[in-house]
Amino acid sequence: MFHLCYLFLLLSPVKSNGENITTFPAILIFGDSTVDTGNNNYLTTAVKANHYPYGKDFPTHFPTGRFSNGKLSVDFLASMLGVKESIPPFVYPGLSTYELVTGVSFASAGTGYDTLTTAMTRVLPMSKQVEYFKSYSERLKKIVGEKEARRIINRALVAVSAGTNDFIFNFYDVPTRRAEFNIYNYQEFILERLHDFVKGCCGTGLLEAGPICTPLTPLCQNSSEYLFFDSIHPSEKAYHYVTECLMKEINDRL
Ligand SMILES: *[C@@H]1O[C@H](CO)[C@@H](O)[C@H](O)[C@H]1NC(C)=O
Ligand SMILES: *[C@@H]1O[C@H](CO)[C@@H](O)[C@H](O)[C@H]1NC(C)=O
Repeated sequence: MFHLCYLFLLLSPVKSNGENITTFPAILIFGDSTVDTGNNNYLTTAVKANHYPYGKDFPTHFPTGRFSNGKLSVDFLASMLGVKESIPPFVYPGLSTYELVTGVSFASAGTGYDTLTTAMTRVLPMSKQVEYFKSYSERLKKIVGEKEARRIINRALVAVSAGTNDFIFNFYDVPTRRAEFNIYNYQEFILERLHDFVKGCCGTGLLEAGPICTPLTPLCQNSSEYLFFDSIHPSEKAYHYVTECLMKEINDRL
């Protein structure tokens, strides 16, 4: 739990301006496959999870591009904070005004420290994600006006998850705080704490991920009993667990 608590501590600055942590108008996500909610579906890359068995436990039971059997931590965070039920990918061409105003993910599987990085090309590097963020800001301004767009962005909860580095912070604090946010790795935590369950649900659990975890790969019976869904990516259950811990700590601090 120590690592988790460290992550929580980083959330406290959010409240320093007297605001409730539950009042985030939007959530904006950057990073890799742990927070890619489907951007890679629209890229010419092999790093995709838009096929069965991915998404089999998602509310729609449909593959969305998330590298898990269901929701990701950022989806749970969005719903537990009362923002919305899940976070859409920015690259999706049919985003509604509502989705844009309440936040999107710019993340792309294969980016940064992601375990898949070396094998892959044509994903969105962090620099491209920042470019997309700029175009997001422009679209937001057109929808709600410049002043409101600035308010939303300044108060949004921003999460960056790239391999060994997971960051959650208020955008407002980014310039001064960036250097301090060097924290926590879900997989490491899970491996340390719960080593009995490290084998993934898809196939052997040791090898299959992305293009080689397919509809033809044998699956475990119940992915809720596994911390990993494929050989690299946590199951929905693991993401939910992490988010519950996070929320508990957030509530303790309110
Ligand atoms: C902050 O959130 C708590 C828990 O949801 C709520 O009880 C409280 O009224 C909120 N405070 C403000 C100032 O919004
Ligand atoms: C799957 O496993 C979870 C956790 O052990 C359990 O709560 C759930 O009932 C199981 N689901 C099925 C369909 O067996």
